Amino acid sequence: MYRSHNNGELRFENVGEEISLSGWVQKVRDKGFMIWVDLRDRYGITQLIFDGERTDLSLVENARSLGREFVIQVKGKVIEREAKNNQIPTGDIEILVSELNILNESKVPPFTIENETDGGDELRMKYRYLDIRRKPVRENLIFRSKVTMAVRSYLSQEGFVDVETHYLIKSTPEGARDFVVPSRMNEGQFYALPQSPQTFKQLLMVGGLDKYFQIVKCFRDEDLRADRQPEFTQIDCEMAFVEQEDILNTFEGLVRYLLKEIKGLDLEAFPRISYDEAMRTYGNDKPDIRFDMKFGELNEMAQGKGFGVFDTQELIVGIAVPGCSGYSRKQIDKLIDFVKKPQIGANGLIWVKYNEDGSFKSSVDKFFNQEDLKLWADQVNAKPGDLILVMAGETDKTRSQMSVLRMELAEQLGLRNPNVFAPLWVLDFPLLEWDEESKRFHAMHHPFTSPKPEDVKLLDTDPGKVRANAYDMVLNGNEIGGGSIRIFDKAMQSRMFDLLGFTKAEAIDQFGFLMNAFEYGAPPHGGLAFGLDRLVAILGGRETIRDFIAFPKNNSGRDVMIDAPSVIDDGQLKELHLKLDL
Ligand code: AMO
Repeated sequence: MYRSHNNGELRFENVGEEISLSGWVQKVRDKGFMIWVDLRDRYGITQLIFDGERTDLSLVENARSLGREFVIQVKGKVIEREAKNNQIPTGDIEILVSELNILNESKVPPFTIENETDGGDELRMKYRYLDIRRKPVRENLIFRSKVTMAVRSYLSQEGFVDVETHYLIKSTPEGARDFVVPSRMNEGQFYALPQSPQTFKQLLMVGGLDKYFQIVKCFRDEDLRADRQPEFTQIDCEMAFVEQEDILNTFEGLVRYLLKEIKGLDLEAFPRISYDEAMRTYGNDKPDIRFDMKFGELNEMAQGKGFGVFDTQELIVGIAVPGCSGYSRKQIDKLIDFVKKPQIGANGLIWVKYNEDGSFKSSVDKFFNQEDLKLWADQVNAKPGDLILVMAGETDKTRSQMSVLRMELAEQLGLRNPNVFAPLWVLDFPLLEWDEESKRFHAMHHPFTSPKPEDVKLLDTDPGKVRANAYDMVLNGNEIGGGSIRIFDKAMQSRMFDLLGFTKAEAIDQFGFLMNAFEYGAPPHGGLAFGLDRLVAILGGRETIRDFIAFPKNNSGRDVMIDAPSVIDDGQLKELHLKLDL
């Protein structure tokens, strides 16, 4: 038996017991006659003492040969510690070792394996198995497991069936590029890895499974960011005989259950806002509503007053930054520089200080008097002591620039508290999105999303105005999930493919299997998918999903641990018909 206890388990009550422990050597402190070793495993750290006065001297000599990360087993007696350590649960005791077995040696690790490490990102990724020995990384993986278990528990209680769908498929259009796999047995042909199991879950509904879920890997060849990985995990769900309201209730229920189980929080009903309102109020379809700073449109009160910069613009929009009327010129200039950065691309910022005494001081005092500015203040919900910031320009661009500024200010002011959870539903997304480059419509969610019945008549006359039965769940400024009520009749589905610019032949080639299925009694159905990595990261108080993935890829899509992607040899290339026999 390697161990009678783990390294996080022994307490003062165990004093006097003969025990055995196994684990990794975290630290060795050699005081000559006595050696202390911190022994670590998943559960914690226990201090060992090798004492030449109380045990065999050869044991102390043996302990002297231990290096960091050696794997050892010890037997000994639990004794009370002289200098207690109240930082760790085992801090009242130590083990007076009577037997030491070195199970495996270790090279000196390339970085310190402690809570705080000296290892840079790339190095830690290369030796991820060592990084995982560190408590913060290990705890994140354990946390993820806890969330996953809770998800399974909720969904199976609700009658969802866990079905695995296949990975070697044909491309599904979720808007990203596919990863493809060459077929050895079918020369010149390729599988694609699923960007999501979208069409298959719909077929499971045609198959009568009624409620499906799967915690499933999805693959998308897209540019990476902190919240994106080329392979990531979805909690993918679908239900038959449902309307939007059924879906919202079921999955709001899931997130509420998770917040209760994992965080001990009871949340009110989630707010719901339309896509249009989200764009108008936050300049963003995934607003962070942990803080206010809602947009106020100022066109009516700011145009026609002789300030040329405003008069010609499509949109003038302001926000009230709480408690910042005292900002210095330098602080404001910094914000102006921020919005002028090429990534944001604004022309500048107009500022108005709403002083504590109720008076105003602004960068446009020449054009606007105190009464004018009071109207602005009311429109952006400003209170005395706030700083009002205003931008003007083309509507979509200005909203998105203001949204970036809003998030930046919230960050600077510490308003993005990771322990506060503010979920909401964003509803009524547009069905289609115009793409200037290809000069055609794209599906905003995906081509299987149904239009709102009342907007169907616009499909012929003004397709860009049609709203979809589509919804996103947003948590703390991140899109954690999205879905829709699906099209379930063949005629509407082919009309949709027409609108998206598919020829009849292309539609049949790519989606014939789905359209055929719709001819055999497809029930009304809908669903959604959560991004598990994002959900876990946010519940864990972070936004970088890599921290919650065992073996993530870096920003160039590389796995630096196994050094993938890599070249394959000529034999393999030939076998896959990727290289001609010369
Ligand atoms: P969608 O494309 O919105 O919908 O994806 C669902 C959720 O998956 C997460 N997500 C990602 N997470 C990490 N890395 C990525 N590259 C990545 N891409 C997406 C997001 C997102 O909300 N089939 C539909 C769902 C449906 O209609 O039922 C779908 O895949 O959190």
